[in-house]
Amino acid sequence: MRQKLRKKIYGYEIIRNFINKDKDYSILDLGCGKIPFFLEFKKNFKNYQGVDVSINDTAYDNITLKKKDIDQIDIEEMNKYDLILVIDVLHHLKVEAIESLLIKFSKLHPGKIIIVKDPIDTNLFYRTIHILHDLVINRELIHFNGYKLIEANMRKNIDTKIIKNNFWYKNIFFKIII
Ligand SMILES: C[S@@+](CC[C@H](N)C(=O)[O-])C[C@H]1O[C@@H](n2cnc3c(N)ncnc32)[C@H](O)[C@@H]1O
Repeated sequence: MRQKLRKKIYGYEIIRNFINKDKDYSILDLGCGKIPFFLEFKKNFKNYQGVDVSINDTAYDNITLKKKDIDQIDIEEMNKYDLILVIDVLHHLKVEAIESLLIKFSKLHPGKIIIVKDPIDTNLFYRTIHILHDLVINRELIHFNGYKLIEANMRKNIDTKIIKNNFWYKNIFFKIII
């Protein structure tokens, strides 16, 4: 039951359709969180590296977790992976950090897949819900520039864009192919 709920909140059904379920990807999860939920859902992968400012360095089997700022990950590092995840992270980053990340994405080797999920503020209701959520839980004032910057700067690389409600949260999902 908890797993089902978590899957729904994470948006895994949509993310699963963005990737080939039979392929063993090497995965870079930017802002993976303390519990990298993606690993609970997808079991077959070549290797997985999660980076996040609020985790401890850990490694087991083909999984590595590193305490790092997304800004520290350079193009060379990103190019080692087939699939890059940015799930519920952009709204926490400074606009300059998002811009620098998108520049790096645009310079990656062709064929890389990037999946982004972020909250969307299509009206005052969704804006308020999302802002209140992070203000109460993380004491952080979030913004909604991430998806707008993707649409403005990576238009030609957007393969699929889906907007979906999860309960009272409205999210946007992008499958980006370089
Ligand atoms: C809402 S959580 C999402 C976690 C995970 N991607 C998921 O969907 O379950 C946002 C995560 O981004 C991380 N984060 C925020 N700013 C970051 C930065 N500059 N570099 C790395 N991680 C960052 C936070 O520590 C947090 O774990």
